[in-house]
Amino acid sequence: MPDWSRIEALPSPTLTELFDQDGDRLSRFSLDVAGLHFDFSKTHLTADAVVAFTALAEEAGLAKRRDALFAGEHVNVTEDRPVTHTEERGEGAPELVAAAKRCHERERALIDAIEGGAMGDVRHILHVGIGGSALGPDLLVDALGREEKRYDVAVCSNVDGVQLEDAFARFDPHATLLVVASKTFTTTETLLNAGSVLAWMTDHGVADPYGRVIALTAAPDKAVEWGVDETRVLPFNEGVGGRYSLWSSIGFPAALGLGWGAFEELLEGAAEMDRHFRLTALEKSAPALAAFADLYYTQVRHCETRAPFAYDVRLRLLPPYLQQLEMESNGKGTTLDGKPVGRPTAAITWGGVGTDAQHAVFQLLHQGTHLVPVEFIAVIEGGDTLGEEHHRQLLLNAFAQGAALMKGKASEDGARNYPGDRPSSTILLDQLTPRTLGALIAFYEHRVFVNGTLLGINSFDQFGVELGKEMAKAAAKGGGDFDPSTTDLIKRAGLD
Ligand code: F6P
Repeated sequence: MPDWSRIEALPSPTLTELFDQDGDRLSRFSLDVAGLHFDFSKTHLTADAVVAFTALAEEAGLAKRRDALFAGEHVNVTEDRPVTHTEERGEGAPELVAAAKRCHERERALIDAIEGGAMGDVRHILHVGIGGSALGPDLLVDALGREEKRYDVAVCSNVDGVQLEDAFARFDPHATLLVVASKTFTTTETLLNAGSVLAWMTDHGVADPYGRVIALTAAPDKAVEWGVDETRVLPFNEGVGGRYSLWSSIGFPAALGLGWGAFEELLEGAAEMDRHFRLTALEKSAPALAAFADLYYTQVRHCETRAPFAYDVRLRLLPPYLQQLEMESNGKGTTLDGKPVGRPTAAITWGGVGTDAQHAVFQLLHQGTHLVPVEFIAVIEGGDTLGEEHHRQLLLNAFAQGAALMKGKASEDGARNYPGDRPSSTILLDQLTPRTLGALIAFYEHRVFVNGTLLGINSFDQFGVELGKEMAKAAAKGGGDFDPSTTDLIKRAGLD
């Protein structure tokens, strides 16, 4: 078992003291990888802490587990399978890389066929999927698709029909492609939504609605059984977890909407981060340093949450994307060998978009009683064309918030006192491109992996989501063994 006591025993000077004590602090705790600048200097990480975490990583077998991940070994022990999202971007076990390439070639051929008119008039893409089958593609299209307007894309995840009806109001059923994204092809919400899209097409006189469906799945047989023609089923490897799946055919709307070249750049950016993670010593590894800081705050300072803020509207879907990635991966209570983990695991990820968030939730960050490690994600080159002032203000706000959180401002008047010493890290992209976004997302994936490994948990299963699904299914069939409160709610809503 890794020995956490040396981490817990570390002294904890204030951030200002840390800068005063170490003239090299900024260069020690900042680094550049794949067009991304990482600045961890405003966290409480110290050289001693990094040494202690590196020793802990060794005890936890991080290097071995990382090698096993890239070698295609069955690191997902509870489901007894490899974890193959890095192979989707060409990094990892050669036979799995080759298999992923074959899937990508098939995807590309279908995209070429659609572009060539094989599916008739296609202007609208209705992507139906949920969780990892929605959050990733939605992020990609929203972040990168502003200039590229070849297709209008709607991602519908919720079983609430309002979301679908919003898309129906915008879209022409005769020019719509229905993309059904589901790794398992069993997810209730997705299949219900997909069926409703087909009904909408039929009601509007589309002659062959099934002829306008594309399936993205690791269960191709189920998609075919559901009615999708085999030629329009884009498979991917079962080892690609849902929340790690945007690199696979699940990224189809981005690959079609942004163009295959852009999609390949996304994969290359991620692969560059993979190589950085695989080949760099931990004290110079961006994912490892970020994870060490995460663990310092959860384990030593008992922080229950962490808050990433995107200071760029193009990245507004990054915080919800990270919520699934981080909480579904590391929100666990059991170790790899099935024992209670005995310490806090993933922090609760929340966050939002700056500068909006400054006028809503930053009060708590500056003066509240919770210590919340904040993360600023910003892009040097802005996305607007209104002149420099908007972007200048946006970036300066991000930087000023980090400075204010750290420095604080003493006042005799408690209401006007800012305690300071509040940590933040900053990730600065040179530009927002498919390549840098790929590197950014891969950075988060590896950070999650380091966190999970040092905690001794499996970041790649998600059994915690099953019970609620089972109970909803039982209730939908009129069954289920419910408590008096739930039974009453079902009755009041007229659902019994
Ligand atoms: O319920 C959680 C989950 O299993 C996620 O892990 C997954 O991303 C999502 O549901 C959707 O699953 P599927 O892609 O199989 O429809």
